[in-house]
Amino acid sequence: MSSVGSRSAEVVHIVGARPNFVKAAPVVAALEKRGVRQSVVHTGQHYDDRMSAVFFRELGLPRPDVDLGVGSGSHAEQTAALMVGLEREFTSRSPGLVVVYGDVNSTVAAALVAAKLHIPVAHVEAGLRSFDRTMPEEVNRRLTDQLSDVCFATSPEAVGHLAREGVAADRIHLVGNPMIDTLLGHLDRFDTAALRRRLDLPDTYVAATLHRPANVDDPETVARLTKRLHEVADQADVVMPVHPRGRRAFEEAGLGGHPRMRLAEPLGYIDFVTLVRGSAAVVTDSGGVQEETTILGVPCLTLRPNTERPVTISHGTNRLVTDTELPGLVAAILAGDGIGTATVAEVPPLWDGHAGERIAAVLAGGDTAP
Ligand code: UD1
Ligand code: UDP
Repeated sequence: MSSVGSRSAEVVHIVGARPNFVKAAPVVAALEKRGVRQSVVHTGQHYDDRMSAVFFRELGLPRPDVDLGVGSGSHAEQTAALMVGLEREFTSRSPGLVVVYGDVNSTVAAALVAAKLHIPVAHVEAGLRSFDRTMPEEVNRRLTDQLSDVCFATSPEAVGHLAREGVAADRIHLVGNPMIDTLLGHLDRFDTAALRRRLDLPDTYVAATLHRPANVDDPETVARLTKRLHEVADQADVVMPVHPRGRRAFEEAGLGGHPRMRLAEPLGYIDFVTLVRGSAAVVTDSGGVQEETTILGVPCLTLRPNTERPVTISHGTNRLVTDTELPGLVAAILAGDGIGTATVAEVPPLWDGHAGERIAAVLAGGDTAP
């Protein structure tokens, strides 16, 4: 297979938000093994230590060569600042290839800037679709895929979506899931007994994390979810590392007011996945967490009307739920009745810890990895 972009020029990875770091780590490592010249550009979309630097420390990602320090803002403000910073960076670096990850604003901004500068773009985690245009991520995904020269898909249905949208077959590669590479690569660090002792956790608890605008931006919705989470906490301790997006709204709704609600700062990757691994169930709206619970075999109750990751339902432990269903489903799980999802006998195809190597094989040319 021929390489993408110019073999001698640098590969530049664009990362900016929490899930990007987890996805980029195995790709950067696999390209490093092949001796490819590369650098990591951090856009600064996420900037708190717990949302950013901790991942570099824990995942062996090289420190970013540059941090553009873009920070927060409205969509237009943030995307515009990202584009201005990235255009300057790409113009001075002249990369041979830009690699973008997932569906955040940093992803689409980098793809658009690179395309206008005639720099080839590779999109890792292409083709996911929720078919819900009210999600900013859905807009970002669709545009990024159209702008990309190479699309790396994590699941067969993602390949189908790309094909239906007119992406040529030779631009699409089903490679598996780099987020799962990271999970499997660190499995022996997820020591649930040690975390239980350190955080004084009971044997049975529920882990929660929420940050989608549809769940955390509107005070009425936050009040309703707070009531439901308290109904869950009536049954078992709930440990919830709170994403900064919803921090103030949940505080104002009195989320911490229940004696069995344990609110925390966002956790580092190792502690968070360990928390999930040791939990009886997870309540979430995170994309990545739906995938991680699938591999860990932990029941995942996703507070959303749709998912761009249906493979986590067909081949995993995920179930879409409404807030009214939530307390009853937690009760069913705690009673050992399950929630009617697949048994984890068959994980999604190629979620085997080698996606990064497959991506590197395509990008660098040469042998195709296992
Ligand atoms: C972003 C992504 C979302 C992804 C999520 C992962 C977009 C449009 N959304 O959402 O797809 O699932 O990251 O976590 O790109 N904030 C801090 N500290 C930080 C970062 C953010 O306090 O380090 C606060 C700021 O108040 C900011 C808000 O969180 O306004 C939202 O941050 P932003 O990056 O705009 O979007 P997320 O909701 O984090
Ligand atoms: N995560 C973490 N600490 C937390 C919450 C999540 O390390 O407190 C990890 C999680 O295990 C996954 C990634 O962050 O690897 C998912 O990021 P997030 O939920 O912010 O974004 P999404 O996947 O929804 O885009």
